[in-house]
Amino acid sequence: MTTPAHVAIIMDGNGRWAKARGLPRLAGHRAGVEALRKTVRAAPGLGISYLTVYAFSSENWSRPKSEVSDLMGLLKLFIRRDLAELHQNGVRVRIIGDKAGLQPDIRDLLDEAEQLTLHNRSLTLVIAFNYGGRDEIVRAARKLAAAVASGEIDSDAITAERFAGALDTADIPDPELVIRTSGELRLSNFLLWQAAYAELVFLPCYWPDFSREHLADALRDFAGRERRFGGLAPQNVAL
Ligand code: FPP
Repeated sequence: MTTPAHVAIIMDGNGRWAKARGLPRLAGHRAGVEALRKTVRAAPGLGISYLTVYAFSSENWSRPKSEVSDLMGLLKLFIRRDLAELHQNGVRVRIIGDKAGLQPDIRDLLDEAEQLTLHNRSLTLVIAFNYGGRDEIVRAARKLAAAVASGEIDSDAITAERFAGALDTADIPDPELVIRTSGELRLSNFLLWQAAYAELVFLPCYWPDFSREHLADALRDFAGRERRFGGLAPQNVAL
């Protein structure tokens, strides 16, 4: 079976999961963190090397202040409580998104997690936090524009490959599979550049209910897809 090296997940539906149970949204996000833990534990055994999760988007700031603060608190708690286990299990933590827009204590915590786990190789857990695909592309374009303006590079030298090297994911291969839970059928500004050729799997379950079996099913679905990257299927090449 062909397994994607990199799986990216839009963890959607925490709020609706909580509402269906008459619970506050925070309870849904807490259950979401638990689902994330289980997914991280399951990923290496399923042959996944990179797992990217959309934890807080650059648009999530528009939510009520209390929910934004809850999500910041949960991230801190997750790093504080789980970092030792992640490190012990050989998980490398990488953050993508605009760190500059985060509070200094959160930034420090994220930096610490990245530094501590830098050499781990069993799984790279990429946490997209204060992340937006358009924002990432704009930041990359600014970096390259500054390099052109200073004469460091010529604008003709900017290829798609070079552009990708200016993104937050410079050292991370593109995701082959993007999964979104909760039944919504869109990318919501997630990995816009990197997901250009990704296979998409949309699941009806809310994120807190996501399990190892859902992940294994999505991998089976992926394995059955024919990926052409704009080319032709092998059986049609000679026709
Ligand atoms: C979408 O559900 C989920 C989020 C905006 C945040 C995802 C966060 C977690 C899984 C927990 C936090 C994880 C870390 C590492 C801090 P929603 O709130 O949009 O749900 P809804 O669409 O049903 O309202």
